[in-house]
Amino acid sequence: MASVWTAMTETILEYTGLSSTAFFTIVAMMVVTYKVVCGMFISADDFVPVKREPLYLGDLTEEELKAYNGSDSQEPLLMAIRGQIYDVSSSKMFYGAGGPYAMFAGRDASRALAQLSFKPQDINGNLEGLSDAELEILQDWEDKFIEKYARVGQLVPKKTLTKKEEDENASGREEVLKATKGDIMQEDRSVEVNGVHKAGHL
Ligand code: HEM
Repeated sequence: MASVWTAMTETILEYTGLSSTAFFTIVAMMVVTYKVVCGMFISADDFVPVKREPLYLGDLTEEELKAYNGSDSQEPLLMAIRGQIYDVSSSKMFYGAGGPYAMFAGRDASRALAQLSFKPQDINGNLEGLSDAELEILQDWEDKFIEKYARVGQLVPKKTLTKKEEDENASGREEVLKATKGDIMQEDRSVEVNGVHKAGHL
């Protein structure tokens, strides 16, 4: 083995005038350069994301939007700016699990984007107190999103129940409670009956 190595070293020296270390270092550098240069010429087709037609989802509450944060790979990745919801599934590398901007997925990230902030308390749609400069930054983000992604819906406030609906719900709950209570009493009786029954056999 040693003699093969010595022969190889001598041949390299004879033909290239280089030591084996220098020779192999140059070969390694050429391989790396080749790989990098090849990487620059990947065809545009390789960047075409897997197409899934964005589905129009319409009105979603903040709570409903959270379901589209990438935790379910079957669902689209959504993100909102100024209450408008965009399908950002084609940028999974940004917003998908482990991505640098995953914290924005399933949320309205207006405030964070305007302030260039990653703080959890800024990831919301509250624009209160933002400066003109921050609102301008937000506008740039919004323009980018409008151009790049499909808008699939808008955020709506959580549905608040009317007095009538609340009363109906309350009476519904009472009914359920009554029925459940009946079942429990029924169950208690049957246990008792079973107990006596069982005791009779002992
Ligand atoms: C050290 C600072 C930062 C660097 C070097 C950086 C770098 C980048 C790069 C290279 C991209 C890809 C751009 C593209 O291909 O279109 C990107 C995208 C993005 N960056 Fe940053 N970024 C930085 C800070 C931030 C901050 C502070 C925010 C917001 C809080 C942010 C939000 C985003 C978002 C949302 C995208 C994706 C936009 C899209 O969906 O196309 N970045 N960033």
